[in-house]
Amino acid sequence: MKKVEAIIRGNDFNRVKNALKQVGIVPLTAYPVQGRGVQGGVPPYDLLPKIKLEVVVKDKDVEKVIETIIRNSRSGVPGDGKIFVIPVEDAIRVRTGEKGNEALY
Ligand SMILES: Nc1ncnc2c1ncn2[C@@H]1O[C@H](COP(=O)(O)OP(=O)(O)OP(=O)(O)O)[C@@H](O)[C@H]1O
Ligand SMILES: [Mg+2]
Repeated sequence: MKKVEAIIRGNDFNRVKNALKQVGIVPLTAYPVQGRGVQGGVPPYDLLPKIKLEVVVKDKDVEKVIETIIRNSRSGVPGDGKIFVIPVEDAIRVRTGEKGNEALY
């Protein structure tokens, strides 16, 4: 299992979210964040608002999820976002006690 963390523009979030659903990735967590990339902010703002999307996926789905996020958020302009892939040790569905891949989706 991997956690895919994507920090993207708020304007792209609905499109990314809908596209993930279309490729079968429904569960996710998203929240507003503030951040800066290599350029720093845009004066006078040191940090800019973005949306952080977190989705824990089966190993076999990692590339599909990354490709879907990129396809729906790349404009070619600085600030398109950043994706991090993080190993996840386990997942437990509280309702059933299922663990690992079975607990995800
Ligand atoms: N190394 C990092 N660590 C933590 N957060 C980061 C990192 N790089 C980028 N971010 C987050 O991702 C957001 C978008 O980054 P951004 O797209 O500007 O990346 P970049 O590396 O500057 O690429 P680009 O040159 O295309 O702008 C930032 O506002 C910040 O929240
Ligand atoms: Mg940047």
